[in-house]
Amino acid sequence: ETIQHFVATGELRNHNLIHTKKMERERVTGYLLFSVATVVIGSLQFGYNTGVINAPEQKLQAFFNKTWMERYREPISAGVCTMIWSLSVAIFSVGGMVGSFNVGIMADKFGRRKSMLLVNVLALIGAALMGFSALCYSFEMVIAGRLVIGLFCGLCTGLTPMYIGEVSPTSLRGAFGTLHQLGVVVGILVAQIFGLEVLLGSATLWPLLLALTAIPAVIQCIMLPFCPESPRYLLINLNQEEEALRALVRLRGTEDVSADMQEMKEESIKMATEKKVTIPELFRTPAYRQPILIAIMLQLSQQLSGINAVFYYSTGIFESAGVTKPIYATIGAGVVNTIFTVVSLFLVERAGRRTLHLLGLAGMAVSAVLMTVALQLKGLPFMSYLSIVAVFAFVALFEMGPGPIPWFIVAELFSQGPRPAAMAVAGCSNWTANFLVGVSFPKLVEWCGPYVFIIFTIFLVLFFIFTFFRVPETKGRTFDDIARGFSGQASTSAQAPPTGEVVTLPASPTKEKVPPG
Ligand code: GLC
Repeated sequence: ETIQHFVATGELRNHNLIHTKKMERERVTGYLLFSVATVVIGSLQFGYNTGVINAPEQKLQAFFNKTWMERYREPISAGVCTMIWSLSVAIFSVGGMVGSFNVGIMADKFGRRKSMLLVNVLALIGAALMGFSALCYSFEMVIAGRLVIGLFCGLCTGLTPMYIGEVSPTSLRGAFGTLHQLGVVVGILVAQIFGLEVLLGSATLWPLLLALTAIPAVIQCIMLPFCPESPRYLLINLNQEEEALRALVRLRGTEDVSADMQEMKEESIKMATEKKVTIPELFRTPAYRQPILIAIMLQLSQQLSGINAVFYYSTGIFESAGVTKPIYATIGAGVVNTIFTVVSLFLVERAGRRTLHLLGLAGMAVSAVLMTVALQLKGLPFMSYLSIVAVFAFVALFEMGPGPIPWFIVAELFSQGPRPAAMAVAGCSNWTANFLVGVSFPKLVEWCGPYVFIIFTIFLVLFFIFTFFRVPETKGRTFDDIARGFSGQASTSAQAPPTGEVVTLPASPTKEKVPPG
């Protein structure tokens, strides 16, 4: 009888597995795609505003000079001009730090969808300030506009991956999560192309180039009301079971959402006492300590890889390696960037997060060494080509893992209660590192010359080691399962001293959690 029972339950499980597989395939509905497409407009905004400031550098500096003349009847000094310019570039990341830090408070207070709707007000204000700056002869408006747009983008980098993580089916969370990064890279590419002098990067049209960010903001405001609020937020935070069910049925395109509902309810019961976790609590609670450390380190690995040294300064890098038309090499980097994000999109659910992140970091380290060789031996034949190949490889490998994964893995490492606070801390770490690389790179080049990328190589190696020993695989696992892996660790690590062993949490596939029927 027992044997029969085992056979029967085994079969049942197999049956369930097939059933779940089928269900999950069916779960990618047009409505889910529409909702995700709507929110990644926020990612596009982040990318666009990251990339937009580079091309019109000369034009903006000329404008600063013109304004200065208008006011003070004398030309601006080179020092002041550079200062205003650097400020316009860097204040964007300062806004990003502040914005991302407030993601948690907003997302819990207004919900995910309403927050995304509200932050568009910032996009419109920022666009107006920058767009009318030339008419008003005010470089202060450019600086203020960049700050407001930075605030907006900081909020986007938390709200978008959080929403996507919460609405995606477990088996596709990584692929959908990568869509955030795809939005970012497309945004950068669009900005690079629009910034060409023949398009909007000219002496008269640059205000329009900067103000263009208002258009996606308006489009998103029109589309968002048709998207559902995150069912997890509705059920776990607001206790609105009916509404959560309705949203889920529409997203999944089937009445049979019992598996999802069950999983959310289990999480909800466990979260009853900690529906909201504040940032200090995040650091005080042993169960969250390990995942928040991982989240921060992954964000730092993304920025300290040196990727934005390339995106902010690639034209200069190509120039110093002897490339004759550097602007086109820069756009080439944008194209490679986009292509490899798509490659990662298709690989991430197969290869897993850990493997791709490790592969990316290792490959970037090698590319950085190649870049150093090209810069060091410049003047020798083929070195300008080597520099292009090395930069393209650097960017391609970035997008295999270190680009997309840190943004979406934070939502995966935490359950509903601590997620918003964790997104805030992780996002703020990312923006801070972004700011530091942005402002220090020119100085570092002065100090280290062609060896500047060795600094990033060292970081890359260190982050490789950290990832290897500390980052668990999250592919295909429910939020609750991932969180449980960490709290298990927290209780054991209280007795055992930390060892350097690989933290591969027991892979308990989602499927097992689906109740029969
Ligand atoms: C990531 C980074 C961003 C960078 C971009 C490049 O989204 O967060 O700073 O500019 O990738 O593709």
